[in-house]
Amino acid sequence: MIREFINHDIRDLNSFHVEQKCNRLITFERAEELDEIFADRASLGEWYTLGGGNNILFTKDFQGTLIHPAGKGIAIVGEDETSLTIEVQAGEEWDDMVAWCVEHELWGAENLSLIPGTVGASPVQNIGAYGAEAKDIISRVHLFDTTECRHLSLSCKECRFAYRDSIFKQELRGKTIITSVEFTLSKIAQPNLHYGDVCQKVEELGGPTLKNIRQAICSIRNAKLPDTKVLGNAGSFFKNPIVEKGVADTMKAEHPEMPLYPAAVAEKSKLAAGWLIDQAGMKGYRNGKVGVHDRQALVLVNYGGASGGEVIELSREVQRRVKECFGIEIEPEVNIL
Ligand code: EPU
Repeated sequence: MIREFINHDIRDLNSFHVEQKCNRLITFERAEELDEIFADRASLGEWYTLGGGNNILFTKDFQGTLIHPAGKGIAIVGEDETSLTIEVQAGEEWDDMVAWCVEHELWGAENLSLIPGTVGASPVQNIGAYGAEAKDIISRVHLFDTTECRHLSLSCKECRFAYRDSIFKQELRGKTIITSVEFTLSKIAQPNLHYGDVCQKVEELGGPTLKNIRQAICSIRNAKLPDTKVLGNAGSFFKNPIVEKGVADTMKAEHPEMPLYPAAVAEKSKLAAGWLIDQAGMKGYRNGKVGVHDRQALVLVNYGGASGGEVIELSREVQRRVKECFGIEIEPEVNIL
């Protein structure tokens, strides 16, 4: 079903809870409804796909149409001895899908427990946490190509996934709407416990069952990351910077305790932006209605009533301080509109 709202308040449609409006909001449930919505394309004006609003910062009222996929549902579309493939509608909550997989004894999604947002948004920035990324389980992405008004799908390889990146943030930016995603999960146990204190937490809970891994990840996340319903935020505001290996090695020599990760690209290393911001003295910093979270410096928070502009101003201050202290540029991970 298509629904339409005019001059709509979007405070509760973005996890930062900034107080902005959009000219028009259209929600749809079935992929075919997009043919109707885009039949009169000119009337949409500027448009943007809004999933759960968990990775976006509105800095002003949106003078156009927000299109929100609201279709839900999980269907089994393939199975063999060792795996099961499901097709999940874009409007399904990501964590509901993870819970479904864990209940059905399917492996691959559990480390991505509790990531806020919708399934349709997950391929765009290739969400990731605790040593896993959405790309590890995505097998196909179904989408509507708004330039040709046709429905098509891309294989995992065609999506060109990388760290917090995909074709949807590059060539296809602003051109397609993801309508459903296929995930292939394993029926065979494959615990992924290498990241940080995951292994230790899982052992404390009694060993690497799917339920224990999900519970461990949920408790680690809850201890560090603020609940968006209580404190407006968009998870990590910045990406972990990928720098030349030589630069990273020099920094490591000066700061032996600095976390350092291999990057997927040769001759590069990934630094922890949270550590850089923390060491720059910004963790827990507050400026009026906005601040840097006191348990995870990568997260900027709205203490209530902040505008998008105030968040942006804070983000620039954080970037400036990190640049001054370490000579490193950190880039926002969040989409800024
Ligand atoms: N650190 C600090 N101070 C801080 C934050 C982090 O010193 O305030 C250090 C930590 O001690 C650790 C390192 O930095 O040694 C990395 O921290 P953490 O494991 O918390 O992960 P992260 O790199 O800060 C990334 C993702 C998170 C994801 C975690 C866990 C990005 C941009 N962020 O954060 O994703 O949950 O790893 O895998 O890659 C998100 O994207 O919204 C998100 C929360």
